[in-house]
Amino acid sequence: MDVKEKIKKVAVLGAGDMGHGIAEVCAMVGYEVTMRDIKQEFVDRGMNRIKESLAKLQEKGKISNAEEVLSRIKPVVDLEEAVKDADLIIEAVPEIFEIKTQVFSDCESLAKPECIFTSNTSTIKITELAKATKREDKFAGLHFFNPPVLMRLVEVIKGEKTSEEVMQLLVDFVKSLGKEAVRVEKDVPGFIVNRVQAPSGALLMAIVEKGIASPEEIDAKMKTIGLPMGPFELMDYTGVDIFYHAMKYYSETISKDYAPPKILEDMVKSGNLGKKTGKGWYDWSKGRPEIKASPSEKINPLDFTIVEINEAVKLVEMGVAKPEDIDKAVKLGLNRPFGPFELAKSMGVEQIVKRLEELSAEFGKEIFKPAETLKAGKLPV
Ligand code: 3HC
Repeated sequence: MDVKEKIKKVAVLGAGDMGHGIAEVCAMVGYEVTMRDIKQEFVDRGMNRIKESLAKLQEKGKISNAEEVLSRIKPVVDLEEAVKDADLIIEAVPEIFEIKTQVFSDCESLAKPECIFTSNTSTIKITELAKATKREDKFAGLHFFNPPVLMRLVEVIKGEKTSEEVMQLLVDFVKSLGKEAVRVEKDVPGFIVNRVQAPSGALLMAIVEKGIASPEEIDAKMKTIGLPMGPFELMDYTGVDIFYHAMKYYSETISKDYAPPKILEDMVKSGNLGKKTGKGWYDWSKGRPEIKASPSEKINPLDFTIVEINEAVKLVEMGVAKPEDIDKAVKLGLNRPFGPFELAKSMGVEQIVKRLEELSAEFGKEIFKPAETLKAGKLPV
């Protein structure tokens, strides 16, 4: 049966950066959507952002039916109204475990028994979120990338109890959105793309904390290797709070080496969350920041690549995904020219292992220690 026979109505919970974009993407391909947030002003802001985005796409000739798309999205505040007829729920509320589980447990009694529940969480294990419901077999991760309307990847994450039927339906759903699905076969914090980046995030923080280079100097250097945004610009773009919560979660679930530094905690406490609040590492009040600093000569972009390769190898060892799927996910999820395994092949395992040992000693972090496969002188196949 076609996915559009099984899924007709989608409820998107949360109208923020991700929620409004996900609602827009679903409506663009014909799904009936309810977009829900806890206050009318949040829902209104989300609808305005969708209107602006659709207008841009129409201007460029990418769509010709902005009004029709908009008419398929019903903005609501009442949770029951949002989910009662839904065939699929996509949750995109703040990245805080207790908020997400509360929303899912509220939905349990309001949604149809056959409705599939999904979370757009950046990092939190799907299996843990699913426990807030009585439908763990119909619960999975559906992880979009920011901005959902432009980014082509969606990770489809299998929780410990997610049924194969639900996984397949969600892969078909992602394809129906015109996007590429990558299956995450094992539920680990951060899944594929965010998990591969986790140690490079920790390295960035350690470099800034030690005063080796400033965020702007690092961004200037990283842009020289063909990334669409520098890492700090991207952190501002996706939300400093998202990065902070990810590090905190990794520090609790993977290693204390991920503990967020004070500078990051202070930014979150003072509400400097990046693009959405007008200020983060950069000032966004006049639009996208211009990076004026000279590229730092004290950092080597290859170090970030090397710690990401190491994490990608660990993901293969854990059975999370195959190397080619990891490369595909990293390229599509971050608009990068190369995936970690493609880069590793051009480097040589010995050099990677040596540098990982050095980084681990220099920054006192176990998370940079080389994966078993690399230590054995191999790359996974
Ligand atoms: N709707 C419609 N059009 C949009 C849009 C939107 N929401 N956002 C941007 N655009 C348009 C712009 O208007 C612009 O159009 P123009 O060419 O006619 O002026 C065009 O897209 C390109 O945008 P920009 O000129 O602002 O800048 P770029 O060329 O750099 O493209 C980008 C923007 C696609 C976001 C690119 O910078 C990029 O790929 N950045 C990396 C994004 C990324 O890595 N995202 C993933 C983050 S991780 C994540 O989300 C996971 C989560 O769990 C944290």
